[in-house]
Amino acid sequence: MVEFWYECIECAQKFDRSQRLYTCPRCGGLLEIELDLSTLADELSKHPLKGPLSVWKYAAFMPIEDRSKIVTLREGGTPLYRCDRLAREIGIRELYVKYEGANPTGSFKDRGMTVGVTRALEYGAKTVACASTGNTAASLAAYAAKAGLRCLVLLPKGKVALGKLVQAMIYGAEVVSIEGNFDQALDLVERLCTERLDIYLLNSVNPFRPQGQKSIGFEIADELGWKAPDRVVVPMGNCANIWAIYKGFWELREVGLIANIPRMTGIQAEGAKPIVDAIKRGLDRFIPVPNPETIATAIRIGNPVNGPKAIRAIRRSGGTAESVTDEEIVEAQKLLAKLEGIGVEPASAATIAGLRKLRRNGEIDKDEQVVCVATGNVLKDPEEVLRISGGVKEVPADYERLLQVI
Ligand code: F0G
Repeated sequence: MVEFWYECIECAQKFDRSQRLYTCPRCGGLLEIELDLSTLADELSKHPLKGPLSVWKYAAFMPIEDRSKIVTLREGGTPLYRCDRLAREIGIRELYVKYEGANPTGSFKDRGMTVGVTRALEYGAKTVACASTGNTAASLAAYAAKAGLRCLVLLPKGKVALGKLVQAMIYGAEVVSIEGNFDQALDLVERLCTERLDIYLLNSVNPFRPQGQKSIGFEIADELGWKAPDRVVVPMGNCANIWAIYKGFWELREVGLIANIPRMTGIQAEGAKPIVDAIKRGLDRFIPVPNPETIATAIRIGNPVNGPKAIRAIRRSGGTAESVTDEEIVEAQKLLAKLEGIGVEPASAATIAGLRKLRRNGEIDKDEQVVCVATGNVLKDPEEVLRISGGVKEVPADYERLLQVI
């Protein structure tokens, strides 16, 4: 097992892993889990990575103390599709889509929850909780069910896609609808979990969640023959995933498995783009957006908790950030589906829209090898698809009438 501890990204103070922490007790900064890379290198030489792609193929990199407690629904091992037709349309040499919609609950959140819920068991928690734009709730509900834990999810009223809501309900979570937005729901659940020590917080401010999500970077490099692509494009909401993937590539480079880190490129919706603004204006701190709005409800977030981590991931990797309109998102969602047969929810399509925009502006070279992370399945938001699609043709059960409409 690898040695690990908490470390504050602001003041660099280290904390023992036996404590249950979410933010730095000293300065309030975000915490990160750091691995002892020398024991990790030892572990890897004794047990080289082998077997099919999955989060737990990389167990050596996962901060878990007791492997017998692992809560898994066989997450990860998602397809990395080579998308030549879409690449031609956008004008990119080599384009891949990492299809996270193929995870057990249909989004990348499962990678974080397998580690986060396992950690909840290691801390002896009986109840887990989160605020969510939908996918985190669906995923936590499933993993809590598997682990036999009580699950509480706080959702912004009327703003959660139908597919995600029904998932949280069928897996048996207690669903509370908050009359407010995601940022307000997150404030409430953070307070609840700080005051009620019996409830373990599994939003991505919990540094164990990104630890599982870093396996997206591991799988991409692994599948490309232990090489990092030139660029990885990720939608940004609460901003943990872009950091997690960056951290995955960073760890691979530190242990000598790859030579370089891809340029991390974060995409936000026009109506919720605090990080894009900070990157473009060269700021170290972002300014929250009070009333975020976008068709991509998964990333309808104005005050991303992990914003400082996203800014670091983008700057340290020499990446960039871009925003896209709802129209551009919808167009990209249709393009990806029609050219490649990949159905995603709007937040995921933002990556394709962003790549297209950056390519058109000349900010990205046509010779790059690019991976877009398609974070969630199209079935998550069926109502949006009905709104943007042309509708269906109806005919009586009559052959001649059928011929008239096709
Ligand atoms: N894509 C999808 C489909 C998501 O559900 C989310 C986040 C993101 C992208 C952004 O990831 O927050 O790590 O920057 N959804 C969260 C939720 C907020 O509650 O399900 P991030």
